[in-house]
Amino acid sequence: MEQNISSSSRTNANHIVLRVSFIAALAGLLFGLDVAYVNGTLDFIVQEFNLSIADSGKVAGYLLAGAATGALFSGWLSRKFGRKKVLILAALAFTGSILFTISTHTFDIFLIGRFATGIAVGIASFVAPLYLSEIAPFKSRGALIAMYQLMITIGIFAMFISNALLSHTGSWRIMLAVLLIPSIVMLLSSFTLPESPRWVILKGNHDHALSILSRIRHNKEEIEVEFNDIKKNVQNKTGGLKILTSGYFKKVIILGIMLQCLQQFTGINAFMYYSQKIFATAGFTNPTVSTIIVGLVNVLTTIVAIKFVDKIGRKPILYFGLTILTLSCMVVGYIFNSHMNGSMLSSSEQYTLLTFCLLFIFGFAVSLGPIIWIVCAEIFPLESRDLGITITTMANWVFNAIIGQYTLIWFNSMGVGQTFYMFALAGLIGFILVNLFTPETKNITLEEIETNLKAGRALRHIGN
Ligand code: BGC
Repeated sequence: MEQNISSSSRTNANHIVLRVSFIAALAGLLFGLDVAYVNGTLDFIVQEFNLSIADSGKVAGYLLAGAATGALFSGWLSRKFGRKKVLILAALAFTGSILFTISTHTFDIFLIGRFATGIAVGIASFVAPLYLSEIAPFKSRGALIAMYQLMITIGIFAMFISNALLSHTGSWRIMLAVLLIPSIVMLLSSFTLPESPRWVILKGNHDHALSILSRIRHNKEEIEVEFNDIKKNVQNKTGGLKILTSGYFKKVIILGIMLQCLQQFTGINAFMYYSQKIFATAGFTNPTVSTIIVGLVNVLTTIVAIKFVDKIGRKPILYFGLTILTLSCMVVGYIFNSHMNGSMLSSSEQYTLLTFCLLFIFGFAVSLGPIIWIVCAEIFPLESRDLGITITTMANWVFNAIIGQYTLIWFNSMGVGQTFYMFALAGLIGFILVNLFTPETKNITLEEIETNLKAGRALRHIGN
């Protein structure tokens, strides 16, 4: 009888964690859907509002600027109001801003809608992984955070397909309305989420935390161990903005920002936003199909990366991915540059181009895609983790916004080829950053990393 009860409560706890993780991961899906929206709809938006090249860049740029703003406030919001309420807020903002954007008829007001959706994306990009890491049992924490990155890539892929299926309508409004489905699902289901036990303890409500833990953990022992661990952590957490002045924090925050800069300036989002343009410029008759393949390779490679990142380690995979993506950028740049005079690409050149574009996506998705987020979640000492992740997430969105806003302008002014050479140069600088300053954080606890950092070790040795 007792065994029956404990096995049914175990199944119950597993179910709740799974359901809760799924709802939080929906935020990742929405993130992917929203950023990829522009790829496939831009031409319709340009037509309706009669946009110049610089204005076209704003369609992606405003969303990303909104995301940087959302990320900036998300740390404070989620500390003050709790993770659950902020997830609900993000879902509300997703739904409301999409409805608003669909109803707009001038470009300026349309951009306000994009900015508002961006705020939702920025908030979700901070709170959902935070919530997942606090709800997940510690054994599956890494996998659940990685699952969030996977959901982003699935969102991007799903949007590419949805855009392809709906492009015959010629209506960017219908193509945007699709996003209402996951937004509303997230909105309704996030009301059923439990609050994060960690946040509840942070607010001193121990009984409530124990009752949440009893729903999401299997037995009394697990509940007590986790409860005491969180309490201890929370007590040690002096935090605050004072930390900004400490030498070790400055070191890791600069590293985090540089890594995010590397992730964006190697050019992944030139593909995520403008692959249709890139393939159309190269004379592909069906750029939509190539774009869908780009999305698929991105998803499949992320699955591979999740499998290997804890086994092989961060740095070897970073070198491997950087090598592939830098070389691919050079080849793509070379092919475009050799047709600067406006001549058409032969079909074998088109195949070569597509192959190296896909290799580029593979190189990114296996390395910089997931690993930069993982490393940025690992290098900060506990008392500054929230702040560190907020600042690095915001940095990611700021650099992302620059790429979103300026890629079309660069394509137009210096050419697609030169732009890819620039991405390759960022990849080369990346080798120096990884070699000289990035630690290997495989097989080491976060507490050990923290001790090494505070003992004054060089950054690249804090994981040894
Ligand atoms: C990046 C995003 C990018 C996505 C592509 C993420 O790691 O931060 O900017 O769009 O990967 O899969």
